[in-house]
Amino acid sequence: MVSESYVRLGVNIDHVATIRNARGSMYPDPVEAAILAQNEGADGITAHLREDRRHIRDEDIDGLIAALNIPLNFEMAATEEMQKIALKHKPHAVCLVPEKREERTTEGGLDVLRDEKNLRAFIKPLNEAGCRVSLFIAAVPAQVDAAKRVGAAVVELHTGAYCDYFYETKHAQCEAEFENLKNMCGYAHSIGLEVHAGHGLTYETVKPIAAFSELKELNIGHFLISDAIFNGLGTSIKKMKKYIEEARAS
Ligand code: PXP
Repeated sequence: MVSESYVRLGVNIDHVATIRNARGSMYPDPVEAAILAQNEGADGITAHLREDRRHIRDEDIDGLIAALNIPLNFEMAATEEMQKIALKHKPHAVCLVPEKREERTTEGGLDVLRDEKNLRAFIKPLNEAGCRVSLFIAAVPAQVDAAKRVGAAVVELHTGAYCDYFYETKHAQCEAEFENLKNMCGYAHSIGLEVHAGHGLTYETVKPIAAFSELKELNIGHFLISDAIFNGLGTSIKKMKKYIEEARAS
């Protein structure tokens, strides 16, 4: 039985596809990476099908659905096109993220408050199809409240700012953002939302976040795929899991 305090590690395989697409080749295959991650202890796989298909492509999602025994967290923007794809595949989880064509990665969280009415209508059929809907948001109370109101089961707290401040050695801002994340993790849990976190996490930044007692899942991609270039994906996943487990034990 999985312990109450266990934090799942979702491995984001987008950047395996980034490398493949850089040369227009057939390799490395993100589906093969996902199967390897599954065999090496990943608790779930995350893949973001962006509107511009810059990394993951439609056929990768088909392959992931066919190959995985662990849950797929399908990351997508709240568009009609993506909703159709999600409803076709009915993945375990759908994580809604903001998306801009010109951004390098997902910048900032979803503005649930501003888009409350549309998001409520957008989420309903996904909930009815049995997908656990997660909203990727900044650690702001009003966004957490809005996420609850629109019918999300999960919020994923955006750890990008905390990680950026950490590496820019902006200690005061890093600490302030960390406190926000910690408080929002507790608050979201207290109003009945499951709490996940992710973005920019590394071996150095993961432990304090993994220690939040209410946290259920971490989604990590860019750093794990980068570390895997030197150490192999299995080693990188096991090391990250070890840090997470140590944080839970302390
Ligand atoms: N969670 C969400 C919602 C994301 O959009 C991303 C980036 O695709 C991640 C987690 C993983 O972030 P990173 O690749 O920086 O670890």
